[in-house]
Amino acid sequence: MDRLDGPQAEPLSGRAWPASLTQVPYWVFQDEAVLRTELGRVFHGPYWSYLCLEAELAEPGDFCATFIGDQPVLVTRDVDGELYAFENRCAHRGALIAMAEHGNAKDFTCVYHAWTYNLQGDLTAVAFQDGIGGAGGMPPEFCMERHGPRKLRTAVLNGLVFGSLSNDVPPLQEYLGDEIVARIERLLGGRTPVVLGRFTQELPNNWKLYVENVKDSYHASILHLFFTTFGINKLSQRGGIIVSEDGAHHVSWSAIDRSATEDDGYRDQKIRSESEYRLRDPSMLDGFSEVGDDTTLQILSVFPGFVLQQIQNAVAVRQILPIGVDRTRLNWTYLGFTDDTEAQRLVRLKQSNLVGPAGYVSMEDGCIGGFVQRGIAGAGDEFATLQMGGSEAVSSSSRVTEASVRGFWKAYRAGMGFTLEDA
Ligand code: FES
Ligand SMILES: [Fe+2]
Repeated sequence: MDRLDGPQAEPLSGRAWPASLTQVPYWVFQDEAVLRTELGRVFHGPYWSYLCLEAELAEPGDFCATFIGDQPVLVTRDVDGELYAFENRCAHRGALIAMAEHGNAKDFTCVYHAWTYNLQGDLTAVAFQDGIGGAGGMPPEFCMERHGPRKLRTAVLNGLVFGSLSNDVPPLQEYLGDEIVARIERLLGGRTPVVLGRFTQELPNNWKLYVENVKDSYHASILHLFFTTFGINKLSQRGGIIVSEDGAHHVSWSAIDRSATEDDGYRDQKIRSESEYRLRDPSMLDGFSEVGDDTTLQILSVFPGFVLQQIQNAVAVRQILPIGVDRTRLNWTYLGFTDDTEAQRLVRLKQSNLVGPAGYVSMEDGCIGGFVQRGIAGAGDEFATLQMGGSEAVSSSSRVTEASVRGFWKAYRAGMGFTLEDA
Protein backbone atom coordinates (compact mmCIF):
# COMPACT_ATOMS: atom_id res chain seq x y z
CA MET A 1 0.00 0.00 0.00
CA ASP A 2 1.27 3.46 -0.90
CA ARG A 3 1.62 5.71 2.06
CA LEU A 4 2.62 9.28 1.68
CA ASP A 5 3.74 11.64 4.37
CA GLY A 6 1.61 14.62 5.21
CA PRO A 7 2.91 18.14 4.74
CA GLN A 8 5.66 18.95 7.21
CA ALA A 9 5.19 22.59 8.03
CA GLU A 10 8.25 24.47 9.13
CA PRO A 11 8.54 25.33 12.81
CA LEU A 12 7.33 28.81 13.65
CA SER A 13 10.14 31.28 13.64
CA GLY A 14 10.34 34.20 16.02
CA ARG A 15 8.13 32.58 18.64
CA ALA A 16 10.01 31.75 21.80
CA TRP A 17 8.57 30.01 24.82
CA PRO A 18 9.83 30.09 28.42
CA ALA A 19 11.75 26.89 29.15
CA SER A 20 9.68 26.15 32.26
CA LEU A 21 6.54 24.08 31.76
CA THR A 22 4.76 26.32 34.25
CA GLN A 23 4.20 29.15 31.77
CA VAL A 24 1.98 29.03 28.71
CA PRO A 25 1.90 32.11 26.46
CA TYR A 26 -1.64 33.14 25.53
CA TRP A 27 -0.75 33.83 21.88
CA VAL A 28 -0.69 30.08 21.39
CA PHE A 29 -4.52 30.14 21.59
CA GLN A 30 -4.93 33.16 19.32
CA ASP A 31 -2.57 32.98 16.38
CA GLU A 32 -3.65 31.83 12.89
CA ALA A 33 -0.06 30.91 12.00
CA VAL A 34 0.09 28.65 15.07
CA LEU A 35 -3.04 26.82 13.93
CA ARG A 36 -1.67 26.29 10.42
CA THR A 37 1.57 24.93 11.86
CA GLU A 38 -0.37 22.63 14.23
CA LEU A 39 -2.39 21.17 11.39
CA GLY A 40 0.83 20.37 9.51
CA ARG A 41 3.23 19.35 12.27
CA VAL A 42 0.87 17.83 14.83
CA PHE A 43 -2.25 16.52 13.09
CA HIS A 44 -0.41 15.51 9.90
CA GLY A 45 2.75 14.72 11.81
CA PRO A 46 4.09 11.55 13.47
CA TYR A 47 1.15 11.08 15.84
CA TRP A 48 -1.87 8.80 16.00
CA SER A 49 -5.31 10.38 15.75
CA TYR A 50 -8.52 8.63 16.76
CA LEU A 51 -10.70 7.94 13.71
CA CYS A 52 -13.71 5.86 14.82
CA LEU A 53 -14.74 2.67 16.57
CA GLU A 54 -14.18 -0.72 15.02
CA ALA A 55 -17.78 -1.48 16.05
CA GLU A 56 -18.93 1.20 13.58
CA LEU A 57 -17.34 -0.84 10.78
CA ALA A 58 -18.67 -4.28 11.63
CA GLU A 59 -19.62 -5.46 8.12
CA PRO A 60 -17.70 -5.48 4.82
CA GLY A 61 -18.56 -2.27 2.98
CA ASP A 62 -19.21 -0.29 6.18
CA PHE A 63 -17.60 3.13 6.11
CA CYS A 64 -17.19 6.08 8.41
CA ALA A 65 -16.37 9.64 7.35
CA THR A 66 -14.19 11.31 9.96
CA PHE A 67 -11.29 13.77 10.31
CA ILE A 68 -7.67 14.15 11.29
CA GLY A 69 -7.44 17.80 12.26
CA ASP A 70 -9.17 19.61 9.40
CA GLN A 71 -8.55 16.82 6.94
CA PRO A 72 -11.56 14.69 5.90
CA VAL A 73 -10.83 10.98 6.08
CA LEU A 74 -12.76 7.85 5.06
CA VAL A 75 -12.38 4.64 7.04
CA THR A 76 -13.73 1.45 5.48
CA ARG A 77 -13.93 -2.29 5.97
CA ASP A 78 -13.25 -4.09 2.70
CA VAL A 79 -14.52 -7.56 1.74
CA ASP A 80 -11.14 -8.95 2.86
CA GLY A 81 -12.23 -7.97 6.41
CA GLU A 82 -9.42 -5.43 6.82
CA LEU A 83 -9.76 -1.76 7.73
CA TYR A 84 -8.52 0.92 5.34
CA ALA A 85 -8.32 4.69 5.67
CA PHE A 86 -7.71 7.32 3.02
CA GLU A 87 -8.39 10.98 2.41
CA ASN A 88 -12.03 11.75 1.72
CA ARG A 89 -10.97 13.83 -1.26
CA CYS A 90 -11.45 12.99 -4.91
CA ALA A 91 -8.20 12.78 -6.88
CA HIS A 92 -9.83 14.63 -9.77
CA ARG A 93 -10.72 18.09 -8.52
CA GLY A 94 -10.97 17.60 -4.80
CA ALA A 95 -14.66 17.01 -3.96
CA LEU A 96 -15.58 14.90 -0.96
CA ILE A 97 -15.73 11.26 -2.05
CA ALA A 98 -18.39 10.30 0.52
CA MET A 99 -20.93 12.73 1.89
CA ALA A 100 -22.63 10.56 4.55
CA GLU A 101 -21.00 10.17 7.96
CA HIS A 102 -21.75 6.45 8.14
CA GLY A 103 -22.99 3.91 5.64
CA ASN A 104 -22.36 0.78 3.65
CA ALA A 105 -21.10 0.85 0.07
CA LYS A 106 -19.64 -1.45 -2.58
CA ASP A 107 -17.52 1.40 -3.86
CA PHE A 108 -17.57 5.20 -3.93
CA THR A 109 -18.49 7.33 -6.93
CA CYS A 110 -17.74 11.04 -6.71
CA VAL A 111 -20.87 13.10 -7.41
CA TYR A 112 -19.00 15.74 -9.41
CA HIS A 113 -17.72 13.78 -12.48
CA ALA A 114 -18.27 10.18 -11.36
CA TRP A 115 -14.73 9.00 -10.76
CA THR A 116 -15.00 5.75 -8.81
CA TYR A 117 -12.90 4.36 -5.96
CA ASN A 118 -12.89 0.93 -4.35
CA LEU A 119 -13.09 0.38 -0.59
CA GLN A 120 -9.31 0.60 -0.31
CA GLY A 121 -9.25 4.06 -1.91
CA ASP A 122 -7.90 3.00 -5.31
CA LEU A 123 -9.24 4.81 -8.35
CA THR A 124 -10.99 2.14 -10.46
CA ALA A 125 -12.96 4.06 -13.09
CA VAL A 126 -12.99 7.49 -14.76
CA ALA A 127 -16.26 8.48 -16.45
CA PHE A 128 -15.83 9.06 -20.20
CA GLN A 129 -12.17 8.13 -19.95
CA ASP A 130 -12.11 7.34 -23.71
CA GLY A 131 -14.33 10.27 -24.67
CA ILE A 132 -17.23 9.77 -27.10
CA GLY A 133 -16.88 8.69 -30.70
CA GLY A 134 -13.13 9.03 -30.59
CA ALA A 135 -13.23 12.62 -29.37
CA GLY A 136 -12.44 14.00 -25.94
CA GLY A 137 -11.51 11.85 -22.96
CA MET A 138 -8.34 11.47 -20.96
CA PRO A 139 -4.95 11.26 -22.69
CA PRO A 140 -3.74 7.68 -23.31
CA GLU A 141 -0.88 8.05 -20.84
CA PHE A 142 -3.31 8.78 -17.95
CA CYS A 143 -2.58 6.15 -15.31
CA MET A 144 -5.28 5.44 -12.72
CA GLU A 145 -2.77 3.91 -10.28
CA ARG A 146 -1.01 7.25 -10.02
CA HIS A 147 -4.17 9.09 -9.03
CA GLY A 148 -5.91 8.46 -5.78
CA PRO A 149 -6.44 9.93 -2.33
CA ARG A 150 -3.56 9.64 0.09
CA LYS A 151 -3.73 6.50 2.22
CA LEU A 152 -3.31 6.53 5.98
CA ARG A 153 -1.67 4.09 8.32
CA THR A 154 -4.22 2.56 10.67
CA ALA A 155 -3.94 0.74 14.00
CA VAL A 156 -6.64 -0.73 16.23
CA LEU A 157 -6.48 -1.08 20.01
CA ASN A 158 -9.39 -2.57 21.98
CA GLY A 159 -11.83 -1.55 19.25
CA LEU A 160 -10.48 2.02 18.89
CA VAL A 161 -9.32 2.81 15.35
CA PHE A 162 -6.44 5.26 15.02
CA GLY A 163 -4.87 6.66 11.86
CA SER A 164 -1.78 8.61 10.90
CA LEU A 165 -0.68 10.42 7.77
CA SER A 166 2.97 10.00 8.72
CA ASN A 167 5.32 7.11 8.01
CA ASP A 168 7.42 8.08 11.00
CA VAL A 169 4.86 7.39 13.72
CA PRO A 170 5.90 4.55 16.09
CA PRO A 171 3.61 1.51 16.51
CA LEU A 172 0.46 2.52 18.43
CA GLN A 173 1.21 0.57 21.64
CA GLU A 174 4.71 2.01 21.79
CA TYR A 175 3.29 5.48 21.12
CA LEU A 176 0.89 5.14 24.06
CA GLY A 177 3.18 3.35 26.52
CA ASP A 178 2.29 0.44 28.82
CA GLU A 179 0.38 2.40 31.48
CA ILE A 180 -1.98 4.09 29.03
CA VAL A 181 -2.51 0.83 27.13
CA ALA A 182 -3.36 -0.90 30.43
CA ARG A 183 -5.98 1.73 31.27
CA ILE A 184 -7.61 1.47 27.84
CA GLU A 185 -7.58 -2.30 28.27
CA ARG A 186 -9.16 -1.93 31.73
CA LEU A 187 -12.22 -0.19 30.29
CA LEU A 188 -12.56 -1.72 26.82
CA GLY A 189 -10.64 -4.99 26.96
CA GLY A 190 -12.54 -8.21 26.26
CA ARG A 191 -15.83 -6.56 25.34
CA THR A 192 -17.46 -5.10 22.28
CA PRO A 193 -18.78 -1.54 22.40
CA VAL A 194 -22.25 -0.63 21.16
CA VAL A 195 -22.92 2.97 20.11
CA LEU A 196 -25.72 4.37 22.31
CA GLY A 197 -25.72 7.84 20.83
CA ARG A 198 -23.72 10.64 19.29
CA PHE A 199 -23.44 14.39 19.73
CA THR A 200 -21.41 17.04 17.98
CA GLN A 201 -20.73 20.13 20.03
CA GLU A 202 -19.13 23.31 18.83
CA LEU A 203 -16.89 25.00 21.39
CA PRO A 204 -16.20 28.76 21.27
CA ASN A 205 -12.51 28.33 21.95
CA ASN A 206 -9.16 27.09 20.71
CA TRP A 207 -8.89 23.27 20.69
CA LYS A 208 -5.98 23.29 23.15
CA LEU A 209 -8.10 24.97 25.81
CA TYR A 210 -10.40 21.96 25.67
CA VAL A 211 -7.43 19.56 25.84
CA GLU A 212 -6.16 21.45 28.89
CA ASN A 213 -9.60 21.16 30.47
CA VAL A 214 -9.73 17.39 29.91
CA LYS A 215 -6.29 16.94 31.47
CA ASP A 216 -6.99 19.28 34.36
CA SER A 217 -7.99 17.12 37.32
CA TYR A 218 -7.77 20.15 39.61
CA HIS A 219 -10.87 21.86 38.23
CA ALA A 220 -13.29 18.95 38.12
CA SER A 221 -14.68 19.07 41.64
CA ILE A 222 -14.54 22.89 41.80
CA LEU A 223 -16.10 23.96 38.50
CA HIS A 224 -18.60 21.10 38.43
CA LEU A 225 -20.90 21.65 41.37
CA PHE A 226 -22.87 18.55 40.45
CA PHE A 227 -19.85 16.36 41.26
CA THR A 228 -19.45 17.64 44.80
CA THR A 229 -23.14 18.14 45.60
CA PHE A 230 -23.84 14.50 44.88
CA GLY A 231 -20.51 13.15 46.11
CA ILE A 232 -19.40 11.76 42.75
CA ASN A 233 -15.91 13.22 42.69
CA LYS A 234 -13.85 15.13 45.24
CA LEU A 235 -10.13 15.75 45.23
CA SER A 236 -9.99 14.12 48.67
CA GLN A 237 -11.05 10.78 47.18
CA ARG A 238 -8.57 8.01 46.48
CA GLY A 239 -7.19 8.44 42.97
CA GLY A 240 -4.25 9.58 40.94
CA ILE A 241 -2.79 10.90 37.73
CA ILE A 242 -0.78 8.94 35.22
CA VAL A 243 1.30 10.99 32.79
CA SER A 244 3.08 9.19 29.94
CA GLU A 245 6.84 9.60 29.83
CA ASP A 246 6.76 12.10 26.95
CA GLY A 247 3.93 13.97 28.67
CA ALA A 248 1.61 13.46 25.72
CA HIS A 249 -1.05 11.18 27.18
CA HIS A 250 -2.67 10.99 30.58
CA VAL A 251 -5.13 9.22 32.85
CA SER A 252 -6.91 10.76 35.81
CA TRP A 253 -8.80 8.32 37.99
CA SER A 254 -10.64 8.15 41.27
CA ALA A 255 -12.27 5.36 43.21
CA ILE A 256 -14.94 4.86 45.86
CA ASP A 257 -13.31 5.81 49.11
CA ARG A 258 -14.51 3.56 51.86
CA SER A 259 -12.55 5.54 54.47
CA ALA A 260 -13.78 9.00 53.40
CA THR A 261 -14.45 11.52 56.15
CA GLU A 262 -16.47 14.70 56.26
CA ASP A 263 -13.28 16.75 56.61
CA ASP A 264 -12.37 16.99 52.94
CA GLY A 265 -10.97 20.52 52.85
CA TYR A 266 -13.75 22.03 50.76
CA ARG A 267 -15.68 23.60 53.63
CA ASP A 268 -12.58 25.09 55.31
CA GLN A 269 -11.57 26.85 52.10
CA LYS A 270 -15.11 28.03 51.47
CA ILE A 271 -15.12 26.26 48.10
CA ARG A 272 -18.64 25.88 46.84
CA SER A 273 -19.10 22.16 47.17
CA GLU A 274 -22.83 21.88 47.79
CA SER A 275 -25.80 23.41 46.12
CA GLU A 276 -29.34 23.46 47.42
CA TYR A 277 -30.40 21.40 44.44
CA ARG A 278 -31.63 17.87 44.90
CA LEU A 279 -32.53 15.31 42.31
CA ARG A 280 -36.20 14.44 42.05
CA ASP A 281 -35.13 11.05 40.69
CA PRO A 282 -31.86 10.15 42.41
CA SER A 283 -31.84 6.77 40.64
CA MET A 284 -29.61 8.24 37.94
CA LEU A 285 -26.77 8.07 40.46
CA ASP A 286 -27.24 4.35 41.14
CA GLY A 287 -24.59 2.61 39.12
CA PHE A 288 -22.76 -0.68 39.03
CA SER A 289 -19.09 -1.57 39.14
CA GLU A 290 -18.05 -0.93 35.54
CA VAL A 291 -15.38 -3.61 35.29
CA GLY A 292 -15.47 -5.20 38.75
CA ASP A 293 -13.20 -2.70 40.54
CA ASP A 294 -13.83 0.39 42.70
CA THR A 295 -12.83 2.96 40.07
CA THR A 296 -15.77 5.19 39.25
CA LEU A 297 -13.97 7.83 37.23
CA GLN A 298 -11.30 7.42 34.58
CA ILE A 299 -10.53 10.17 32.12
CA LEU A 300 -7.88 9.20 29.58
CA SER A 301 -6.42 11.37 26.83
CA VAL A 302 -4.26 10.51 23.84
CA PHE A 303 -2.26 13.25 22.15
CA PRO A 304 -3.29 15.23 20.22
CA GLY A 305 -7.09 15.08 20.48
CA PHE A 306 -8.67 11.89 21.82
CA VAL A 307 -10.49 11.24 25.10
CA LEU A 308 -11.81 7.98 26.54
CA GLN A 309 -14.08 8.55 29.49
CA GLN A 310 -15.70 6.60 32.29
CA ILE A 311 -17.73 8.76 34.65
CA GLN A 312 -19.66 6.30 36.81
CA ASN A 313 -21.22 4.16 34.03
CA ALA A 314 -21.24 6.87 31.39
CA VAL A 315 -18.63 5.59 28.95
CA ALA A 316 -17.80 7.72 25.93
CA VAL A 317 -15.14 8.64 23.43
CA ARG A 318 -14.53 12.22 22.37
CA GLN A 319 -12.75 13.49 19.28
CA ILE A 320 -11.36 17.03 19.44
CA LEU A 321 -11.08 18.79 16.06
CA PRO A 322 -9.81 22.33 15.48
CA ILE A 323 -11.98 24.25 13.01
CA GLY A 324 -10.56 27.72 13.60
CA VAL A 325 -8.36 29.57 16.05
CA ASP A 326 -11.29 30.06 18.40
CA ARG A 327 -13.61 27.25 17.31
CA THR A 328 -13.45 23.56 18.05
CA ARG A 329 -15.65 20.66 17.07
CA LEU A 330 -16.13 18.06 19.75
CA ASN A 331 -17.59 14.74 18.64
CA TRP A 332 -19.05 12.57 21.40
CA THR A 333 -19.88 8.90 21.01
CA TYR A 334 -21.65 7.28 23.98
CA LEU A 335 -20.97 3.60 24.52
CA GLY A 336 -22.55 0.55 26.01
CA PHE A 337 -21.36 -3.01 25.50
CA THR A 338 -22.89 -6.04 23.82
CA ASP A 339 -22.98 -7.97 27.10
CA ASP A 340 -24.80 -5.25 29.10
CA THR A 341 -27.99 -6.39 30.82
CA GLU A 342 -31.13 -4.40 30.18
CA ALA A 343 -30.82 -2.83 33.64
CA GLN A 344 -27.20 -1.83 32.94
CA ARG A 345 -28.20 -0.31 29.62
CA LEU A 346 -30.83 1.77 31.42
CA VAL A 347 -28.23 2.99 33.94
CA ARG A 348 -25.97 4.05 31.06
CA LEU A 349 -28.77 5.94 29.36
CA LYS A 350 -29.70 7.76 32.58
CA GLN A 351 -26.09 8.58 33.36
CA SER A 352 -25.48 9.84 29.86
CA ASN A 353 -27.17 12.97 31.22
CA LEU A 354 -23.94 13.65 33.14
CA VAL A 355 -21.97 14.31 29.97
CA GLY A 356 -22.38 15.82 26.51
CA PRO A 357 -23.14 19.44 25.58
CA ALA A 358 -25.90 19.84 28.16
CA GLY A 359 -24.59 17.30 30.67
CA TYR A 360 -25.02 17.99 34.40
CA VAL A 361 -21.25 17.78 34.68
CA SER A 362 -19.73 18.59 31.33
CA MET A 363 -21.98 21.52 30.43
CA GLU A 364 -19.51 23.79 32.23
CA ASP A 365 -16.59 22.44 30.22
CA GLY A 366 -18.41 23.53 27.08
CA CYS A 367 -18.30 27.18 28.16
CA ILE A 368 -15.21 27.53 30.35
CA GLY A 369 -12.92 27.45 27.29
CA GLY A 370 -14.94 30.33 25.86
CA PHE A 371 -14.53 32.27 29.11
CA VAL A 372 -10.75 31.84 28.79
CA GLN A 373 -10.73 32.71 25.09
CA ARG A 374 -12.63 35.90 25.90
CA GLY A 375 -10.57 36.60 29.02
CA ILE A 376 -7.23 36.50 27.23
CA ALA A 377 -8.25 38.82 24.39
CA GLY A 378 -5.66 41.58 24.24
CA ALA A 379 -3.26 39.63 26.45
CA GLY A 380 -1.31 37.63 23.88
CA ASP A 381 1.99 38.51 25.53
CA GLU A 382 0.88 37.35 28.97
CA PHE A 383 1.15 33.85 30.39
CA ALA A 384 -1.03 31.30 32.12
CA THR A 385 0.58 29.85 35.22
CA LEU A 386 0.67 26.09 35.81
CA GLN A 387 2.38 25.65 39.18
CA MET A 388 -0.16 23.47 40.94
CA GLY A 389 1.66 20.30 42.07
CA GLY A 390 5.11 21.54 41.05
CA SER A 391 6.77 22.09 37.72
CA GLU A 392 7.19 18.56 36.41
CA ALA A 393 5.00 16.50 34.11
CA VAL A 394 5.03 13.24 36.02
CA SER A 395 2.52 10.79 37.51
CA SER A 396 1.29 11.40 41.05
CA SER A 397 -1.12 10.01 43.60
CA SER A 398 -2.50 13.51 44.15
CA ARG A 399 -4.97 15.04 41.77
CA VAL A 400 -4.32 18.52 43.19
CA THR A 401 -1.88 19.02 40.37
CA GLU A 402 -1.57 20.36 36.85
CA ALA A 403 1.07 17.75 35.96
CA SER A 404 -0.87 16.30 33.04
CA VAL A 405 -1.60 19.77 31.62
CA ARG A 406 2.14 20.47 31.76
CA GLY A 407 2.62 17.12 30.04
CA PHE A 408 0.50 18.23 27.11
CA TRP A 409 2.61 21.35 26.67
CA LYS A 410 5.80 19.34 26.93
CA ALA A 411 4.73 17.11 24.04
CA TYR A 412 3.18 19.96 22.09
CA ARG A 413 6.24 22.21 22.30
CA ALA A 414 8.45 19.36 21.12
CA GLY A 415 6.14 18.60 18.21
CA MET A 416 5.81 22.22 17.15
CA GLY A 417 9.56 22.84 17.32
CA PHE A 418 9.33 26.04 19.37
CA THR A 419 12.54 27.64 20.55
CA LEU A 420 12.71 27.55 24.34
CA GLU A 421 14.01 30.59 26.17
CA ASP A 422 16.39 30.24 29.10
CA ALA A 423 14.77 30.59 32.50
S1 FES B 1 -14.10 16.08 -8.46
FE1 FES B 1 -14.55 14.02 -8.20
S2 FES B 1 -14.94 13.31 -10.16
FE2 FES B 1 -14.41 15.37 -10.48
FE1 LIG C 1 -14.61 19.41 33.49
